[in-house]
Amino acid sequence: MVLCRLAAFLLGGTILLSFASSWAVNAQEDSSSSSSVFSSDSSSSSSSSNNDILGLDGSGTTNPSKCFWHIMAKLSEQIKLPTRFTYRAVGSGTGIAEFLGKEVMDANGTEVTTYEAYNDFGAGDIPIESADRSEWITRGIEFVQLPFVLSAVSFFHNLPGVPASGSQGLNMTACLLSQIFQATITTWDHPDILAINPSLSVSADYPIYVGHRVKGSSSTDAITHYLYAQCPQTSEQPEGWPAELVGSAIEWHESTNECDGSDLMAECIQSNEGSIGYMDAKHGYEALLTEIRVENGNGNFLTSVDAGVDGVRAAVDVDLVPLAADEDFSAMEFYNMPGEDTWPISLVSYIYIRKDLSFIQNPARRTLLKAFATSLFDPDYIDLCDRYGLIPVTSELRDLSLAGLDMLKLDASESDMWVFEKDTLPGLGQGDRVISTRRQSFALYEADHIADEVDPMIEDIRMLKLELASLKAQGMQASNGCIVAKDMALAVGALAGAFLLSFN
Ligand SMILES: *[C@@H]1O[C@H](CO)[C@@H](O)[C@H](O)[C@H]1NC(C)=O
Ligand SMILES: *[C@@H]1O[C@H](CO)[C@@H](O)[C@H](O)[C@H]1NC(C)=O
Repeated sequence: MVLCRLAAFLLGGTILLSFASSWAVNAQEDSSSSSSVFSSDSSSSSSSSNNDILGLDGSGTTNPSKCFWHIMAKLSEQIKLPTRFTYRAVGSGTGIAEFLGKEVMDANGTEVTTYEAYNDFGAGDIPIESADRSEWITRGIEFVQLPFVLSAVSFFHNLPGVPASGSQGLNMTACLLSQIFQATITTWDHPDILAINPSLSVSADYPIYVGHRVKGSSSTDAITHYLYAQCPQTSEQPEGWPAELVGSAIEWHESTNECDGSDLMAECIQSNEGSIGYMDAKHGYEALLTEIRVENGNGNFLTSVDAGVDGVRAAVDVDLVPLAADEDFSAMEFYNMPGEDTWPISLVSYIYIRKDLSFIQNPARRTLLKAFATSLFDPDYIDLCDRYGLIPVTSELRDLSLAGLDMLKLDASESDMWVFEKDTLPGLGQGDRVISTRRQSFALYEADHIADEVDPMIEDIRMLKLELASLKAQGMQASNGCIVAKDMALAVGALAGAFLLSFN
């Protein structure tokens, strides 16, 4: 009887919760529509000083692409004049190539180096190579590299029966991973694996399916740096990771499997029992994969969730950070860093901006580039990217980047400078060069709101399912059955279905 009450209580609570939140959405819709949706006439009555379409076009790494799109949409809604921001997610390598004008394709498909900028800014999860930086400087082209977010890359597996979280998860050292990814360890029952995984029970000779990325990938770059940092191949340590296999695209053993693109990697792991692979940690969790507990610089085993935001940020070593944003960043990397809870595979994402922006015709676009880059260090904007597993940089890196923005040659008049309206600026707030947090668009408002509501509800459903499973198990033992549990299963199913529908 107590169980039945508990089930009914849980069920009632969930339904009430979802009613309460949809009511909250409607209530806020009403209040915002009266103040903003019907006041759009004001723009046509005020004069615009510049009729050019304002905006920016960037290209580069896929990892923070949703973050860029989100902040760009935010800025567009907050600026009165029409703006158009675009970002092509083409990978760090292409982003750098287009930024430098290095080995790009001309109209005939021939590879050329023009030294011209093909984007207003580039972005990547790797610093620009030292040799390229020197060569571009000798041609009079200087630039700043601004680290703006950190993220965790991790290993995931598909071994049924191993707990998805907690201390009972699968443990791996860099030396073991090194042998698995070089295919010198090929079965899960290898004694070295069992030695640090006493509760792992797999059948004899159970094969390991190794998945790896093919094209240049920042996650390949990150994990190979980690393997080499913790377990470098030496004559005393022949099982270690070889120096020549550190990079974004490497030569893999023929018995390993190609899983290109983060989506395909998740698919690869999901559809192959006994598999192991790697990707940015957030992506792995979205695909409901099981993370491996890897060994960190202090010899502790942990997942990226155990490490948390603090564990990823703890990897930043100020001694390795250049003194200024226009210096060489190629030696700045934070793999296998010390600390009890420090995450050993922390990735740094950069945007790259040329100091001389005269290639951008409209001065208001040059100043807008600076405003956009500034927003990447402002919690009002960069915190939007928390949802995508991106962590704002530490204060040292932030200060370095903001000082780097002051090195830009904007060559623009005072009237082309952008102002952020945080507290209401009566009159001034309606200006052409104002980015106002008071100005919103309904579509983005609603999208953000729904996402904020849905994330915790999915977690609720997961918890209810667990609760349901244990109720069922207990119900089996009870002599008088409990009908509520069955109704509850239906309700949970219906809720889950409704969410799936609203996603499509
Ligand atoms: C492409 O090829 C055509 C024909 O060979 C030539 O006339 C043209 O100049 C080439 N364009 C470039 C950008 O090299
Ligand atoms: C991983 O190591 C912990 C001790 O740190 C241990 O309790 C756990 O059972 C190990 N995992 C497996 C799968 O054996």
